[in-house]
Amino acid sequence: MDISVKHQDLTTILANVVVLGIFEDDKNLNPAQTIVDKSLKGLISNYLIKSEGFKGKFADSVIVPTQLKIPADKLMLVGLGKKKEFDCSKLRELCAKVIKQLDKSLNIKNVSIELLGLTSGNFDAQSCANAMSEGMLIAMYDYDKYKTKKSTPQIKKVRIVAYDTKDEKSAKAGVNSAKILCSAMDFTKDLINEPAQNATPETISQVAKNLSTDLGLTIKIYNKKQLSDMNFNAFLAVGQGSEREPKFIHLTYKPAKKAKKKIVLIGKGITFDSGGLDIKPANSMLTMKTDMSGCATVLGVIQAIAALKPDVEVHVLSALCENMPSGSSYKQGDVLTAKNGKTIEVDNTDAEGRLTLADVLTYADELNADEVIDIATLTGACIVALGQNITGIMGNNHNMIENIINIGKKSGETLWELPIFDDMQDMLKSDIADMRNTGSRFAGASVAGRFLQNFTKSKNWAHIDIAGTAFIDKPYRELNKGATGVMVRTLTNYIMSL
Ligand code: BES
Ligand code: MN
Ligand code: ZN
Repeated sequence: MDISVKHQDLTTILANVVVLGIFEDDKNLNPAQTIVDKSLKGLISNYLIKSEGFKGKFADSVIVPTQLKIPADKLMLVGLGKKKEFDCSKLRELCAKVIKQLDKSLNIKNVSIELLGLTSGNFDAQSCANAMSEGMLIAMYDYDKYKTKKSTPQIKKVRIVAYDTKDEKSAKAGVNSAKILCSAMDFTKDLINEPAQNATPETISQVAKNLSTDLGLTIKIYNKKQLSDMNFNAFLAVGQGSEREPKFIHLTYKPAKKAKKKIVLIGKGITFDSGGLDIKPANSMLTMKTDMSGCATVLGVIQAIAALKPDVEVHVLSALCENMPSGSSYKQGDVLTAKNGKTIEVDNTDAEGRLTLADVLTYADELNADEVIDIATLTGACIVALGQNITGIMGNNHNMIENIINIGKKSGETLWELPIFDDMQDMLKSDIADMRNTGSRFAGASVAGRFLQNFTKSKNWAHIDIAGTAFIDKPYRELNKGATGVMVRTLTNYIMSL
């Protein structure tokens, strides 16, 4: 499905359908709509709005034939809801609904849709076109790799029509950045949805290698022997029960100009989390191929960054392994010496993500970055606290966190800060080592954050918990069920804002 922007009179457009938006509390037609209404002899104003009572309620819609009065076959009105409730998140969600509905309708290959939302007065053409395209592209994602019958979308072309010439250029910029972000999200979602039998430490590091070749990034891939020499002991312990060799990947994007800032992104890369000897109940294991979502996310982000080319140096790190029970697994009670020298008593082999992240955070220290952000499907407790549609964020710099949350809001992704208190370390006390890897059931997301804090020296560190949001079992706004690609937009836009 290709999206483009054109400045054109809607009455001259050849398309299967022309889509127009009507606010619930303002049914005066805008100039572009007035021209269409005239050509259609008052079909919109007299018939649809007055006689049929189209109210413009959010996401309500009506489709009618134009009976050859304009070149387009059909006219669709969609409700934009109340002006003061309208924002880019609403617009994204709306366009997702519209494109799905049209894709299911008969004989619609070619859609023209006016640049919606401008008359709300709150948003510029670039943000509106961006939100519209994101909504449509995200909604059309489908993972059909393993279906013998593929789901090709019926709609081939979408044209966003700008009435004003001055809006054309900025709308084009909005569509362009949406395409970059959505293709990065597609990449991330594909990787998360891929079964663990094929998404292994080996194959994912190969995917990262190909990505770096295609995008002109540098990459280092470390094997088990090298990692052992580098003292990634906590990480290697987690992977030791698996038949598959662990890998650690380090990708770098360097700007052409001198970098304004240096950022490290770390993604949790457990390619399958069985729980290890603290084996998970069957039901909880069902979606554990997604435990490398953090890795898939940061790979998506660096793909988008390579296309958008900010003057920021970006490092992407991920420690990839499987958490499996076997004769060689790490055990309850084992004491691990992490890369930074601190000792950890293994209290629960299912709290493996934090062990792998610990060593990567220490490795990140050596890069002397301005900011370090890790992203992980880390705790069930985060899902209990915030559900499947809100991402948890915590760290040691409230301002940095606030900035990420605000960028998230603009990107259509919700984050909420959870606290980390120094004395939460008490819950991690061990009788025989510096700490253990779990606390009690209580405040589980925060205690995991407190654990991680022991392994970073960065003053600007944020930890993002996507356990609930990376993979959802019910559609939400523009997102389909399954992998969401959550935080690709927020983290990319955050880096672009630095
Ligand atoms: N990968 C899981 C967290 C998770 C749960 C992600 C559900 C996505 C959906 C993590 O490794 C884990 O098992 N965490 C444990 C920690 C506990 C043992 C302290 C948890 O949350 O139950
Ligand atoms: Mn686990
Ligand atoms: Zn896990």
